[in-house]
Amino acid sequence: MEKTIALTVNGRLQTVTTDPARPLLEVLREDLGLTGAKLGCGEGQCGACTVLVGSRAVASCITPVGDLEGRSIRTIEGLAPSQTLHPVQQAFLDEKGFQCGYCTPGMILATVALLEAQPNPSDAQIRARLEGHLCRCCGFPNILRSVRRAVRAGGATP
Ligand code: FES
Ligand code: FES
Repeated sequence: MEKTIALTVNGRLQTVTTDPARPLLEVLREDLGLTGAKLGCGEGQCGACTVLVGSRAVASCITPVGDLEGRSIRTIEGLAPSQTLHPVQQAFLDEKGFQCGYCTPGMILATVALLEAQPNPSDAQIRARLEGHLCRCCGFPNILRSVRRAVRAGGATP
């Protein structure tokens, strides 16, 4: 049965009337037109669909939208509302932390969650946080450099 669910997405209150069991990823992409989060495995194993719920990075492909009533969600589209890139986005750009870009929104949002919780992570902490994020282009060395650069640039605060 459909249900009306209120969410704050990138700072804007949104209501969707839908099956509460639908994955958040599907609602973001198909109902709200936010296609930055990507469908990869669809099983919570690759990180391509990562968005932030509150301060936590979650796999939106396995998160039922009905569980998110009243929650605040950030997607890659909401990271830099002005014309200036978010520092983590800028760091990925500067260090060429992407090739095809399919994994990049998830990588960036996972990095934002990490740096909001731990502004000066060690390499081991960075690796541990990004462990579940697959990059089919094998861009991990540049991704690691990007995160280190974001740390040097002051972390997750725009
Ligand atoms: S598409 Fe969600 S984790 Fe792979
Ligand atoms: S940049 Fe292509 S999958 Fe990571």
